[in-house]
Amino acid sequence: MNSISKGQVAEVLERLHQEAEAADAPLAADAGREASTREEMIDQVLKDEASDLKGTYNGFAENFLNVSPEFGRFLYLCARACKAKRIVEFGSSMGVSTIYLAAALRDMGGGRVIGTDLVPSKVERARANVAAAGLSELVELRAGDARETLKSGVGGDIDMVLLDGAFTLYLDVLKLLEPHLKPGAIIIGENAFEQASGYIDYVRDPQNGYLSQSLPFDAGRGNELTIKTS
Ligand SMILES: C[S@@+](CC[C@H](N)C(=O)[O-])C[C@H]1O[C@@H](n2cnc3c(N)ncnc32)[C@H](O)[C@@H]1O
Repeated sequence: MNSISKGQVAEVLERLHQEAEAADAPLAADAGREASTREEMIDQVLKDEASDLKGTYNGFAENFLNVSPEFGRFLYLCARACKAKRIVEFGSSMGVSTIYLAAALRDMGGGRVIGTDLVPSKVERARANVAAAGLSELVELRAGDARETLKSGVGGDIDMVLLDGAFTLYLDVLKLLEPHLKPGAIIIGENAFEQASGYIDYVRDPQNGYLSQSLPFDAGRGNELTIKTS
């Protein structure tokens, strides 16, 4: 059984990818620029995050900034491969990645995605999108800064983490979740840029209890796959 290929979930995902393409078209044009300009763009976002995190992401309140269908399928596959029961997502936006993750849990019999986003209007839209996909029972969405919303815990041990929020906070959020990670947990850093937060250096140092490798697809986007080894 695979609900991302056919049926209600697949239909909602198809609609959301279309809506996202229209909403994010101006940003996609920027991302298609040549590498040197992209580097400058990343540096600018890092600076913006450091000076005004809320303002930066409120500026993207109408943008989906979502995973591609290919990356969404990869998230679904990872969740199923590790037989996840509890998944934490930093940066839920409109809920596209949330739906891929929750669909994997439901297709395996149940579980929980705990997602969080800084922008309250996005959390409302994510809830509506998750509901349209028929997945509300598996998803808890928390509005606010992940460093606060995840502080109180996530209700148990974590099988999988998607880091897809502010680039500069990946290491902070990982360290917050670290005590709850099961050995063998999968951590996926979308846009885990080397110049941001020290995250890449940390997860690539085996002494910290991880094995980590950049992903061969969506090259140049800094996507990193990490396993908690101990
Ligand atoms: C790239 S988007 C996430 C896309 C989403 N994972 C998807 O594929 O549909 C990044 C999101 O992270 C959120 N964000 C940024 N900083 C955050 C923080 N400190 N805590 C929670 N969410 C944050 C932004 O509001 C934005 O919606």
